[in-house]
Amino acid sequence: MSKAFYVTTPIYYINSDPHVGSAYTTIVADSVARYKRMMGYDTFFLTGTDEHGQHVLRAAQKAKRDVKEFADELAERFVKLWKELGISNDAFVRTTDDYHVKAVQGFFQKMYDKGDIYLGKYEGWYCVNCETFWTEKDIGEGKLCPTCLRPLEHVEEENYFFRLSKYTEPLLDHFKKHPDFVEPAFRRNEMMKILESGLEDISVSRTSFDWGIPIPFDLKHVVYVWFDALINYVSAIGYGRDDEMFNRYWPADVHFIGKEINRFHSLIWPAMLMSVGLPLPKKIFAHGWLTVNGEKISKSKGNAVDPRALINAYGIDAVKYYLLRDIQFGNDGDFSEDNLITRINADLANDLGNLVHRTLSMISQNFEFLPKPMEDGKYDDKLKGLTEKTIKEYFEYMDNFKFTQALEGIWKLIRFGNKYIDLTEPWLLARDVSKKNRLATVLYNLSDAIRNVAIMLSPILIKTSAEIMEKMNQDFNDVGNLGWHKTISNVKIMVGDQLFPRIDVKKWKKVIKMTEEKKVEVQVTQKPQVTIEDFARLDLRVAKILSAERVLKSEKLIKLELDLGSEKRQIVAGIGKVYMPESLIGKEIIIIFNLKAVKLMGIESNGMLLAAKDGEKLRILTVDGQVEPGAKIS
Ligand code: MSP
Repeated sequence: MSKAFYVTTPIYYINSDPHVGSAYTTIVADSVARYKRMMGYDTFFLTGTDEHGQHVLRAAQKAKRDVKEFADELAERFVKLWKELGISNDAFVRTTDDYHVKAVQGFFQKMYDKGDIYLGKYEGWYCVNCETFWTEKDIGEGKLCPTCLRPLEHVEEENYFFRLSKYTEPLLDHFKKHPDFVEPAFRRNEMMKILESGLEDISVSRTSFDWGIPIPFDLKHVVYVWFDALINYVSAIGYGRDDEMFNRYWPADVHFIGKEINRFHSLIWPAMLMSVGLPLPKKIFAHGWLTVNGEKISKSKGNAVDPRALINAYGIDAVKYYLLRDIQFGNDGDFSEDNLITRINADLANDLGNLVHRTLSMISQNFEFLPKPMEDGKYDDKLKGLTEKTIKEYFEYMDNFKFTQALEGIWKLIRFGNKYIDLTEPWLLARDVSKKNRLATVLYNLSDAIRNVAIMLSPILIKTSAEIMEKMNQDFNDVGNLGWHKTISNVKIMVGDQLFPRIDVKKWKKVIKMTEEKKVEVQVTQKPQVTIEDFARLDLRVAKILSAERVLKSEKLIKLELDLGSEKRQIVAGIGKVYMPESLIGKEIIIIFNLKAVKLMGIESNGMLLAAKDGEKLRILTVDGQVEPGAKIS
């Protein structure tokens, strides 16, 4: 039986739409899975959805929906999207699947039996969006989540804890013995630093809501959503129910993840596995984050591009080529539609498209069938040498997830193919009957280079590669077909259309409209001009916050006592979703001093503070350095 290879993506939260960022990890993992299958591995490729936790529950409540039904619907969008993107996953795990629930309960029980789980009290901060606990020392004054910058919630609960601290040394040891355990190296170093400062025990259950997996020995607790989620990597391949399958694929060869969830995968997950006595995954690869046109992907910016829109406009192969070619896997990268178009025109239409079209057109003009090589000549050895070198390096790059370099190598060969045409001048050979044999060889050599290119591209440019093989009437499926002069001659070929039509940049309507749309929005919301006298009617002053407390029954309002030098005042501000009252005390803010007093939820507000708003983000204005309370602003 062939060797197994097990590759995974993170399982995605279902409450937001899949965007080009989530598609990125899945596309990369898919390309690796397809490459390994081509190399003859018995490959298992897993993706899925992470459905428990407070954020999903709240989203369902907000939509006034039954949470399971809601989850079913949301998960389906991921299943469908991956189908549309041609993702070749072998299974799709949902954390609400029965087998997963049982596996998590079994896993948790095992850790408990081992003495690694104990009951305690958690008091600290929680980000519902990232479903992450944070300690005081992790977070700043504003009490915002270090990952997503959303406001944190204060949590006080009876929780079960995992003795993560106990695994600091064993993990350090593992990291030292397996230098490639976490990649890239700079991500590994980040994890080493955390390990060297010592791990603390972590809370692994919740009691304040019940959308999760009940802990078998204490049903009022549900398993912390991250604990639940990580176990997907073993539940989906038969942990606790199908030993044969489980032993075949575990340990995983690689978990592909984004950098923000490295700590969970490289520290917590391995410690959990150590606790139940399972081997650790061979590699965790934490890639960087994509921005879109230089900006963080977010719904409010309108740049959370639906991958379907991109694929409809450019075709799946072009988008995949661009992502793997332009973004150095491992580093952060920017998704730019302009660069995508440049790649399509330069690399796909010009280099690859022309090479294939030129070669096939010349064959069909001069021969009835794909010719046999008959007469060697100048430059043949160079093409042969470069083809062989490219294949060898391709394996090395692909095995190490260096997609940019693998594609660069293939494109060097493609470009040399075009140059070989210019150098051997087949159009001149065609004019002279005595040179027919040489012409046959030149065109055979070109076909052979193209066929090798198509095989190497097949895990990524699936459609294009199949199209080339079809045009050339060649069979391929495995790595054994790679190599010089393995093209089958005497077969009928088909010229057909160009593989990639060029995009006329001037006429082209782009998919990502965020910058234009933003400009329009600014124009629409721009207010009429004012004179300096208009402005002077406002009395703006610096005020120091003396105390702050939440307005009862309001999520948003905070009552502030202010020192204005000559007097003290009270205002009510709608900043409670973003700021914790305690974090405001002592800040010097700007208020409109001469604003008519109003009552908000029955409480008098005598003035208004100024704040900057950017979508959901809100930051209050303060002064740059200390000034006396009451100072005027002009
Ligand atoms: N549910 C957890 C993961 C649990 S795995 C046991 C989670 N889900 S998520 O929906 O937030 O997906 C995070 C993953 O999506 C990232 O780790 C990364 O793989 C991918 N990406 C999301 N946004 C991304 C970018 N902007 N850029 C690149 N990848 C991105 O965290």
